[in-house]
Amino acid sequence: MTRSHFTALSDAPVGDLHRNIVDAVHQHGWSEQDFFLPPDLTVALARECTALAAAGSLTRAGVGHGTAKSLQPDVRGDQIRWMQAGQSDACDQYLAIMETLRIALNREFFLGLDEYESHFAFYPPGASYKQHRDRFRDDDSRVISVVVYLNADWLPEHGGALRLHPEGSGTRDILPVAGRIAVFLSADMLHEVLPATRDRLSLTGWFRRRA
Ligand code: OGA
Ligand code: MN
Repeated sequence: MTRSHFTALSDAPVGDLHRNIVDAVHQHGWSEQDFFLPPDLTVALARECTALAAAGSLTRAGVGHGTAKSLQPDVRGDQIRWMQAGQSDACDQYLAIMETLRIALNREFFLGLDEYESHFAFYPPGASYKQHRDRFRDDDSRVISVVVYLNADWLPEHGGALRLHPEGSGTRDILPVAGRIAVFLSADMLHEVLPATRDRLSLTGWFRRRA
């Protein structure tokens, strides 16, 4: 892992965090963990996302991909920016943390995850993302979906939950609280983003197998 001025992962040792995530995904196909990112890194990433939005550097996200890609703001209302290595210290630190998670997932599941792709996502008030799965019909490279939330002082009345629809059990709402991570199987998990009353910032990403 690269060194930087950001402090180490907060309370829980990294090994415990990874173990909790791996066990939960194994047991029911998804996991929710708090304190995944150090607080100062979460703040830096939130600032970067807010600055990108203010500078007009985000683009409206589409639905589908390739030639079938289209803008459908009623289906998907977020604005995004793909993360590049070297974009900022905060992004590089984030990517280093996700690399350790990729290795932990491969060690436990033998998934052969080769790479991680991620984008900043900004949902203005009222924006949502209707029920969907993350794996494209004609491309099975996305294996594990990951969302890390960047929103300080998020309250239940702000809305904006990630609502999971696990097969065979009830729905599960995960609020987009700063430092929290949601992990689920891209092909299986039906999910949606409910509208919020305030800006909702996150990093959404996918561990992929090379096609
Ligand atoms: C997505 C998505 C969930 C969230 O970007 O595909 O489902 O909680 N995001 O932001
Ligand atoms: Mn999704």
